Amino acid sequence: MTRSASDHVAYGKADDVHVVEDDVSSVLASLKVPQLKCLAHRCDVPKVSSLTKSKLLAALKNSSLDLHQVLQSVKLEDLFSVADALKINVPKRNKADVVSGIVQGLVDRRLGRLDHETHLGKYYLGESGKVLHGEIGANLEGKVNLILTSPPFPLNKKKKYGNFRGDEYRQWLSQLAPLFSKLLAPDGSIVIELGNAWEHGRPVQSLLHLHALIDFVENEEANLRLCQQFVCYNPARLPGPAQWVTIKRTRVTDSFTQVWWMAKSDWPKADNRRVLRPYSDSMNSLLARGQYNSGDRPSEHKISDTGFLANHGGSIMPNVLELESSDLNEAIRLPQNTLRFANTQSNDDFHRRCKTAGIVPHPARMPAGLAAFFIEFLTEPGDLVLDPFGGSNTTGYVSEQMDRRWIAVEADRQYALQSRLRFPDDKLKTY
Ligand SMILES: C[S@@+](CC[C@H](N)C(=O)[O-])C[C@H]1O[C@@H](n2cnc3c(N)ncnc32)[C@H](O)[C@@H]1O
Repeated sequence: MTRSASDHVAYGKADDVHVVEDDVSSVLASLKVPQLKCLAHRCDVPKVSSLTKSKLLAALKNSSLDLHQVLQSVKLEDLFSVADALKINVPKRNKADVVSGIVQGLVDRRLGRLDHETHLGKYYLGESGKVLHGEIGANLEGKVNLILTSPPFPLNKKKKYGNFRGDEYRQWLSQLAPLFSKLLAPDGSIVIELGNAWEHGRPVQSLLHLHALIDFVENEEANLRLCQQFVCYNPARLPGPAQWVTIKRTRVTDSFTQVWWMAKSDWPKADNRRVLRPYSDSMNSLLARGQYNSGDRPSEHKISDTGFLANHGGSIMPNVLELESSDLNEAIRLPQNTLRFANTQSNDDFHRRCKTAGIVPHPARMPAGLAAFFIEFLTEPGDLVLDPFGGSNTTGYVSEQMDRRWIAVEADRQYALQSRLRFPDDKLKTY
């Protein structure tokens, strides 16, 4: 069987055959054995009845099937399972509409489809590896000032938004490093947030997220280095993993995520004076008193007579981001812009809008305060921020509020709707 002319039209470039074959493989992999056998019979594959799923897939891969032929061979009710497995939303209508919904979903995933935009940003639906290797990525080469993202976590249990496991995860994340590096401006930065992972069924922390980050930063084709490691501490985190923390009581609450700041130069754009946090009460009274104990400290630091008396407008942030106060009697000390997003106001607003729209908020949103901190620290107004795993678009939303341009790419359509909810209607253009 050969690919028809209409497929070439549907897929844009006629020479894009290998990627189209990827789409056929994804659809075939989502089919059940009886459906595969039926197709294999039609393609005259020998000894079909004795073949396992993997053998059927291999045989069909060599049969030059085109996407329409595969989809047309599947019953309408089974096409809904195919769409579900591929995480493509299709209209609950007739077969022709469902087939073209799936085809369109696969094309979107590969080429990226603009779902909505504001005057500062664009939200694309698509698989980021493919979209950023394509035309959209080519237009961004060398122009992105900050890639700020929380990729799917290397979890043991599959979550709704999907993820790889084990070595597959390491490889998957690492192969993105050269691509991200190519998109960066020479003084741009990459900031990746990753939660901790645990071994399946054991009270043992996995090293997978650390291996994955190391593989990413050490990918030779990417020329990256670790500028600094951060910890994002969430004192309000619910106790977990529940089995070991609340049932067996042999581990304590896992309450931070890893944040790695990387760049392809030792001197990416950064200014810690943009993210000064308010002085503590004791520092404020010291400044007011105009004197303190100078001299040698047990730490071997020598404190000069006047060094601590200059008011710099705030103190330098540590690399532990505590976005909520762990002590209710103590005001949280965060840079002004970070604080603006760390407080629950914008979060509450997002929840309220989701509730009104009958939508369950994204289960793994990035804390808006974390996004605000890195955007302020590493970029300037007008700069371009990219989130290749956009989800509900915390990165784009915060970038917009801080006058940065933004681009988000997300594979799952349902999250595009959540991003739309973040922006007022008069600022949003939808497609
Ligand atoms: C940890 S979540 C990011 C959440 C986001 N930072 C937010 O605040 O809502 C990871 C996201 O990556 C998306 N995703 C997973 N694999 C993807 C891929 N290959 N290309 C694009 N998006 C992908 C998932 O659907 C999920 O929404």
